[in-house]
Amino acid sequence: MMDRANPKDGGRLSRYKDRGDKTPRVLITGSSGGIGFELARSFGKRGCELIINGSHEQRLLSAKERLEKEFARPVTAVVEDLSLPGGAKALHRQVANAGIGVDILVNNAGMGLLAATDEIDFEADESLMRLNMIALVQLCKLYLPEMYRRGSGKILNIASVAAFQPGPYNSTYFASKAFVLSYSRAIRYEARRRGVDVCALCPNSTKTGFFDKEGIRTPPMSAEPQAVAEYAYHKLTRNKAVIVPGLVNNLTRAIPSGVKMRLVAMMKDMGKE
Ligand SMILES: NC(=O)c1ccc[n+]([C@@H]2O[C@H](COP(=O)([O-])OP(=O)(O)OC[C@H]3O[C@@H](n4cnc5c(N)ncnc54)[C@H](OP(=O)(O)O)[C@@H]3O)[C@@H](O)[C@H]2O)c1
Repeated sequence: MMDRANPKDGGRLSRYKDRGDKTPRVLITGSSGGIGFELARSFGKRGCELIINGSHEQRLLSAKERLEKEFARPVTAVVEDLSLPGGAKALHRQVANAGIGVDILVNNAGMGLLAATDEIDFEADESLMRLNMIALVQLCKLYLPEMYRRGSGKILNIASVAAFQPGPYNSTYFASKAFVLSYSRAIRYEARRRGVDVCALCPNSTKTGFFDKEGIRTPPMSAEPQAVAEYAYHKLTRNKAVIVPGLVNNLTRAIPSGVKMRLVAMMKDMGKE
């Protein structure tokens, strides 16, 4: 089957052989705003059926409205707080109860916490670890068996350039992204002969609500979320293992992680208001 909405994709989103001529169905966590919302737009533009998620009902419904208006077709919105125990299972159950199978899973929802580790609130730190790591792992484990049975599917896990070095004053966040990258590469290896592509996206700072929530200014040279999403879409369709938007971000991967760690610590100090 070709991706009918966009034949220019050369059929790369086309390995959904058991479903006749249906378009791929994409579940994107944390898609009421930021990179997740723009990823939904990128998939929506290519005719994919969208299932969006967020923890705040109003924000999610407003995103659903915007997407439905843009693409003139229904979008499924599932409110679920993935930082809560059982959140991933509840999301999977709600999507299954709606009779929707998922061809492409995008684990995008994530949060950061900025402070020295002894100053980070105990419960908030636990929420971060649940959202950034546990929910992501559990959604992979919930959807991989279905994808293996069909012999097709894609998973895009959102890590960060934070995955490439430790992050003082942002320690759990950086460590969580290193986890996402390592986990994604490992399950990619397992899935490689079973028709399922697993890719990790590692953006640098991007203009979203992310830094606001961390209590700092968005760095001035940050990328546009739309550009990050489009780049990610194209690299996912080409099954790139580790997707790093931006030439400079790719080049800086070669810098020793100890040097980068010190730079991160300096920038976090400077970014504090
Ligand atoms: N922005 C950057 O500079 C940057 C750089 C590298 C990587 N990333 C990663 O990119 C991903 C998206 O970040 P972003 O910058 O787009 O952040 P954002 O603007 O804060 O958006 C986060 C999205 O996740 C949702 N979300 C937050 N907590 C959730 C929860 N507990 N359960 C379900 N959904 C939740 C939010 O909706 P609700 O608040 O309504 O739940 C929102 O839709 C994250 O994994 C982040 O770590 C971001």
